[in-house]
Amino acid sequence: MFLLSLPLLLVCAFVRAFEDSVTDYAPSVNVECPDITNTQFVREFTASNQSLNPQEAEYVATRLNTTIADAWKDWLGSGDQLGYNVSSFQGVFPKIGLALPGGGLRAAQWGASSLSALDARNESSKAAGTGGLLQVSSYLTGLSGGSWITGSIFFNNFPGFNDLVFGNGNDLGGWLLDLPFATPDGTDIFSEKNQYFFGSLLWSVMAKAGTGIDTSITDPWARMISYRFLNQTSRDNIFTNDTAHGAGQLWSNIPDIPAFQQHLLPIPILVTDSRPSTSNDTRVLGLDSTVYEITPFELASFDPSLSAGANISYAGTHLVEGRPANGTACVTGFDQAGFMMGTSASLFNQILDFGRNTIQGFSDSDANGLLYVLSRQLSEVRTRSDDVANWPNPFQGLKKDSYQDADATWLSLIDGASNIENIPLGPLFVRERGLDVVVTLDGSADTSQNWPNGTGVIFSSQRQQQFLSASHQPFPPFPQDAQAFLDTGVTLRPTFMGCDPHNNPPEYPLMIYIPNTPPFNGDDPVANTATFRLTYTQKHMRLFFDQVHNNTLSGFVPNTNNADPNFGVCLQCASVDRARYKVSNPPLARSDVCQKCFDQYCFDPQNPPSKDALPGRKFDFVDPDPQGVDRLTGFLGSNGKKLIGGLVGLVVLIGVLIGVLIWWRKRKEKNRQGVYKRVSALHQEGDEWRNSSGFSKGFGHGPSESGFENRESRYEDYVRPEAYELPSHQGSLVR
Ligand SMILES: *[C@@H]1O[C@H](CO)[C@@H](O)[C@H](O)[C@H]1NC(C)=O
Ligand SMILES: *[C@@H]1O[C@H](CO)[C@@H](O)[C@H](O)[C@H]1NC(C)=O
Ligand SMILES: *[C@@H]1O[C@H](CO)[C@@H](O)[C@H](O)[C@H]1NC(C)=O
Ligand SMILES: *[C@@H]1O[C@H](CO)[C@@H](O)[C@H](O)[C@H]1NC(C)=O
Ligand SMILES: *[C@@H]1O[C@H](CO)[C@@H](O)[C@H](O)[C@H]1NC(C)=O
Ligand SMILES: *[C@@H]1O[C@H](CO)[C@@H](O)[C@H](O)[C@H]1NC(C)=O
Ligand SMILES: *[C@@H]1O[C@H](CO)[C@@H](O)[C@H](O)[C@H]1NC(C)=O
Ligand SMILES: *[C@@H]1O[C@H](CO)[C@@H](O)[C@H](O)[C@H]1NC(C)=O
Ligand SMILES: *[C@@H]1O[C@H](CO)[C@@H](O)[C@H](O)[C@H]1NC(C)=O
Ligand SMILES: *[C@@H]1O[C@H](CO)[C@@H](O)[C@H](O)[C@H]1NC(C)=O
Ligand SMILES: *[C@@H]1O[C@H](CO)[C@@H](O)[C@H](O)[C@H]1NC(C)=O
Repeated sequence: MFLLSLPLLLVCAFVRAFEDSVTDYAPSVNVECPDITNTQFVREFTASNQSLNPQEAEYVATRLNTTIADAWKDWLGSGDQLGYNVSSFQGVFPKIGLALPGGGLRAAQWGASSLSALDARNESSKAAGTGGLLQVSSYLTGLSGGSWITGSIFFNNFPGFNDLVFGNGNDLGGWLLDLPFATPDGTDIFSEKNQYFFGSLLWSVMAKAGTGIDTSITDPWARMISYRFLNQTSRDNIFTNDTAHGAGQLWSNIPDIPAFQQHLLPIPILVTDSRPSTSNDTRVLGLDSTVYEITPFELASFDPSLSAGANISYAGTHLVEGRPANGTACVTGFDQAGFMMGTSASLFNQILDFGRNTIQGFSDSDANGLLYVLSRQLSEVRTRSDDVANWPNPFQGLKKDSYQDADATWLSLIDGASNIENIPLGPLFVRERGLDVVVTLDGSADTSQNWPNGTGVIFSSQRQQQFLSASHQPFPPFPQDAQAFLDTGVTLRPTFMGCDPHNNPPEYPLMIYIPNTPPFNGDDPVANTATFRLTYTQKHMRLFFDQVHNNTLSGFVPNTNNADPNFGVCLQCASVDRARYKVSNPPLARSDVCQKCFDQYCFDPQNPPSKDALPGRKFDFVDPDPQGVDRLTGFLGSNGKKLIGGLVGLVVLIGVLIGVLIWWRKRKEKNRQGVYKRVSALHQEGDEWRNSSGFSKGFGHGPSESGFENRESRYEDYVRPEAYELPSHQGSLVR
């Protein structure tokens, strides 16, 4: 086995040198590190003396002076329509960040269509006056489903949003959301095409596992995300291995993307939460748990307890006190774009019920079928914590007095909304970033009809007050609780918050709150779909996109169902307002035009607005293309299942991804409820089951031939164990 597989591996390496392959998902381990005495792998700072990554600071400064300066001119013109002479701002404009919330494919589509309404390149947005805000922004944060649109913008080189989502019939394949996310050939998982698809996912994951780095359910998930949101998958090649389907594209490659090089885009930041290594609870996460951000430069946390950033290019390297333990044991290529988005959207710890071994709505017969597929995966690859994104901890040994994972060799990173902060606001409030305006795009599904109710804003503000007051700016005033968000109608219209600070410089940024709302004109809503809806028809996607686009341009006129022709101007007023504070103290006077806008759009806590001013809105989702649901239930019908449209995708996805974990847990009754299962034990069982069921066949042309399946000898075979500093953990396979 040992001798046989080595040449095969070389052949693989040879072939890979010439063409993209899905196995490019594997990081490179045992890479020669840069000079470890003089290279800074981890940057440390303090809450009271923060610093930004120098490359981030440089990009933001250059962009502000160049493309953003031009974009303001393009957007505001002379300023006449606002009642200002723009030259009186002396070229000093507010610094702006945009936040895209989580919520699966709804959030991704909603993010795209909202951004298209703020995009100067779209003719109707430009005409409405809203198009331009995207171009003057310095930061774009995303989490979970919001991370997918964020990544997609960059890895497709910033095409128009319409082309990004729907494809352009040429080099852009679009998101192909009419093909089920987890089972693109339909729910028959045994169909030849689905089997090819799964085979490709497994091939990627096994290639990563073969390097000795622990994987988890987040890895096949990351690969599925890559098919949709990166740039190498089209309707024609989705069931082939003709491209790498995004494998090998790294988050740290973003600075090489042409649109980034031309400073056309804000800095993208993804947010991910962490389950403390000391926690034995799989699901509940407090606001005190460390929150991390992933930039094109760093995995970082501005939480006062950590205040550090690690070079993203070396993510996956085992660092102790900021240094690699071994100068020839560096890891590169761990920061796969798909894995970054998958990490931010790794919600499996929440949907797996370890205690009862169930997933809601999931039947045994489906589980049994889907189990087969996943059993193949997990019986082949090494995993650590099954239900989280496993990252070697680059911060081990740092900030021992305050950092909760200072002793941990691995980080358990999970969905960025796990602490109920569904909008990635944290990075935009970091003091050192100095943002003047935060655009909160809130497409959360908080209410029973999948509309937001402000919960994300409320939790982020609470976290700021309780844990981040030294490091982050405070929030502007907003309705005091979720019920007040609903009662004031703030969730039914765009609202500006913190319009009139008491100090100069202002004590908080101005927030432009743009929620997902029922159509202003009383149309049936099509954009309040369930988070777990994972298939959309083309027709639905089209209507979703256009409805949200139109809605975002339209603002509101009190007590009517009319669009506000002035909304574009009002959005410009809000975006530029903080410039008044920058050019003089006391601030330059606000123009009458803008004051009128603020009277209509600002939230005044002393005199809150009412939802009664927003009549005739329809709240219940109406499926614009019920044909689609019929089709879905049609192929589920063969299983005798009756499922609601929105749940179909959920059931299939969860089933595909985690069926086998459930199965394993059922077999392991002796395991105490809630206790983490180390995967070494699982592999023992996987063996038995696989062998007894003959499932080991079918890997004939995959990496298993190169010996990945031989778990006992894997490290000895392929990884110099002394060189890849595999952190030891309980249940390690290294014996
Ligand atoms: C803040 O940190 C920088 C290094 O990042 C250091 O040069 C400077 O002296 C520090 N300032 C204070 C007041 O500690
Ligand atoms: C950017 O503009 C500021 C102020 O206008 C100036 O001080 C700085 O030198 C400029 N930086 C670059 C890179 O042009
Ligand atoms: C705007 O201000 C600039 C400089 O203060 C001045 O030269 C220009 O004439 C003003 N434009 C208008 C339309 O008032
Ligand atoms: C896809 O994106 C990668 C990374 O930006 C780029 O190198 C490549 O040229 C793109 N491929 C296509 C087909 O656009
Ligand atoms: C891609 O290759 C892997 C490994 O050979 C195989 O299992 C899988 O079925 C292939 N997938 C496609 C789409 O051809
Ligand atoms: C989890 O941790 C808590 C406190 O740290 C402890 O009381 C509890 O027994 C632990 N539960 C399990 C199942 O280990
Ligand atoms: C990460 O390290 C590489 C190699 O030393 C260096 O080129 C790169 O600039 C570093 N990135 C950051 C963000 O410091
Ligand atoms: C607001 O949304 C949260 C979910 O994010 C939900 O738990 C809560 O009940 C909602 N409250 C109201 C008043 O709708
Ligand atoms: C602008 O947005 C509208 C609304 O979604 C869309 O129909 C149109 O194609 C977009 N234009 C461009 C150039 O992307
Ligand atoms: C969007 O607005 C345009 C122009 O007002 C209108 O023709 C179109 O029907 C609207 N589309 C939707 C989906 O609301
Ligand atoms: C570092 O790795 C090399 C192999 O790359 C190995 O020979 C050496 O013993 C390792 N050093 C330590 C201190 O583990």
